[in-house]
Amino acid sequence: MPYETLLFDVRDGIAFLTVNRPDKLNALNDAVIADLDRAVAQIEGDDAIKGVILTGAGPKAFVAGADIGELSKQNQITGKARAMRGQAVFRRLERCGKPVVAAVNGFALGGGCELAMACHLRVASESAKFGQPEVKLGIGPGYGGTVRLPRLVGKGRALDLLLTARMVGAEEALQMGLVNRVVPAEKLMAESEQLLRGILANGPLAVGLCIEAVDAGLEMSLDEALLLEANHFGFLASTDDMREGMSAFLEKRPASFRGS
Ligand code: COA
Repeated sequence: MPYETLLFDVRDGIAFLTVNRPDKLNALNDAVIADLDRAVAQIEGDDAIKGVILTGAGPKAFVAGADIGELSKQNQITGKARAMRGQAVFRRLERCGKPVVAAVNGFALGGGCELAMACHLRVASESAKFGQPEVKLGIGPGYGGTVRLPRLVGKGRALDLLLTARMVGAEEALQMGLVNRVVPAEKLMAESEQLLRGILANGPLAVGLCIEAVDAGLEMSLDEALLLEANHFGFLASTDDMREGMSAFLEKRPASFRGS
């Protein structure tokens, strides 16, 4: 079944996922959340997809938030259900086992900033703008903003954005660690693809376990997280990928990993 609100295109091992409601600045309505859930399932299930680039359609917005028209109709029950559904989809994306890069091409506000934060890396165009403006609407973030933002930028900076609802430009987002790279708008997709292809040239099992170790390890005690890392280190020592990576280094040639 085709997607109603997403463009989904696979080229050379990369799924290019575009939220496609440009007339509404790609706001996340229930249809987008449902489509994203299906898209993540497709990404998880297709071995030909090695990584993902997520962006927004049109020149203005990555995603300008949850759809305020829909939010305005919610009550205590449907509001909680909406938050939990969105959180589950974003968490599924974050744990899909393949590296996900957000190519942030404009406004990333509210649910848009939260969606970008659920990706593993963020490349922003110079014109991108980030913020969690929910308190202006009399609500708080519902898709992980109060959870991922302090983990990414620290408590003080997170509370600054959450309480003031102010927007920050790409350079300030870079300084605070909210984004990984800032590039000219016309180079956004090429630079995002280059970043992801560089990651995909590395040992895929090792890349997957780095994501898993950071994701799980941040929630563990220091000793538990160190043990998890040691277990991953031991496991990787049993792989063909380790033998290939080290042989390639010693033989002064590029490695060719098979993910086994
Ligand atoms: N939900 C629903 N519709 C949205 C939206 C959202 N989060 N963000 C933008 N839109 C719609 C606008 O209503 C408008 O639709 P219309 O043409 O049918 O009236 C269209 O997208 C274009 O937006 P507009 O506000 O005219 O663009 P702008 O350039 O003047 O302003 C923003 C851009 C991003 C500053 C402004 O749209 C905005 O503040 N959006 C809401 C951001 C927000 O609070 N997000 C968090 C939600 S929890």
